[in-house]
Amino acid sequence: MMKRSLTAIAVACALVVGVARADDPDPIARATATRLAVGVCGTCHGPRGISQQPKYPRLASQNANYLAAQLKAFRGQTRGDPDAIGYMWGMAGNLEDSTIDALAQYYASQPAIVGRHADAALVARGKSIYEQGLESGGVPACAACHGPDAHGVGDFPRLAGQHAQYVLKQLNSFQTNMRNVAVMHGVAQGLKSDEMSAVAAFLEAQP
Ligand code: HEC
Ligand code: HEC
Repeated sequence: MMKRSLTAIAVACALVVGVARADDPDPIARATATRLAVGVCGTCHGPRGISQQPKYPRLASQNANYLAAQLKAFRGQTRGDPDAIGYMWGMAGNLEDSTIDALAQYYASQPAIVGRHADAALVARGKSIYEQGLESGGVPACAACHGPDAHGVGDFPRLAGQHAQYVLKQLNSFQTNMRNVAVMHGVAQGLKSDEMSAVAAFLEAQP
């Protein structure tokens, strides 16, 4: 029963996320994007999308369609927790579609790095939640959508190597609907805060 409704959610979700496609950028858009990435975005997201500060998500190797969809959500002011509003609405406000696509391609093609290895017991608990979900809270396996290696599948985002602090904050924002995405609200609803911390620690430690 749960499996069937999740498949339906995943399909519905793919349709929604699929609206924004990261098209192949022309050379001018590509040059603009590289200039922005190095000169502006990099001050927070780090050179080549490997940020060191946990408040700023790593963008390297992230799925291009996902990145484009998020930049459009910031521009359209629909991704709305306080950090998204404070940091990203202004940044994305004036970006053209072609620049968004080129920025998405730029970050998607940067190599990822392995995150920090946290507390082994916490990571092990997080691995179990990631791979099997939690029957008690009705939480589905994250791997079903984000892939067995957390590298993302289709338009579902990559989570491997992401800062644990950022992941934890997003899970809280999904739970409270400050970041309003039905599918992840459903997932986060059944997670307690120690379970969120465990899965975030596991994800940060993944290559
Ligand atoms: C002053 C710091 C700052 C700058 C400069 C900045 N960002 Fe961000 N960005 C953030 C923060 C903080 C978040 C996380 C927002 C949240 O927690 O919801 C974020 C989130 C994002 C996300 C969502 C990532 C995900 O995994 O969902 C993307 C994509 C992004 N930024 C791209 C860019 C691009 C492209 C630029 C340059 C045009 C840029 N950012 C410039 C601070 C910044
Ligand atoms: C049914 C599919 C599905 C399942 C299961 C699922 N997710 Fe997601 N997840 C998504 C989608 C779709 C998004 C992108 C949301 C958006 O468009 O903003 C997402 C986004 C995220 C993000 C935000 C990534 C970023 O860079 O900001 C995190 C963190 C996340 N999921 C963690 C998890 C965890 C942890 C689990 C398991 C407990 C999980 N997800 C299970 C579909 C799923």
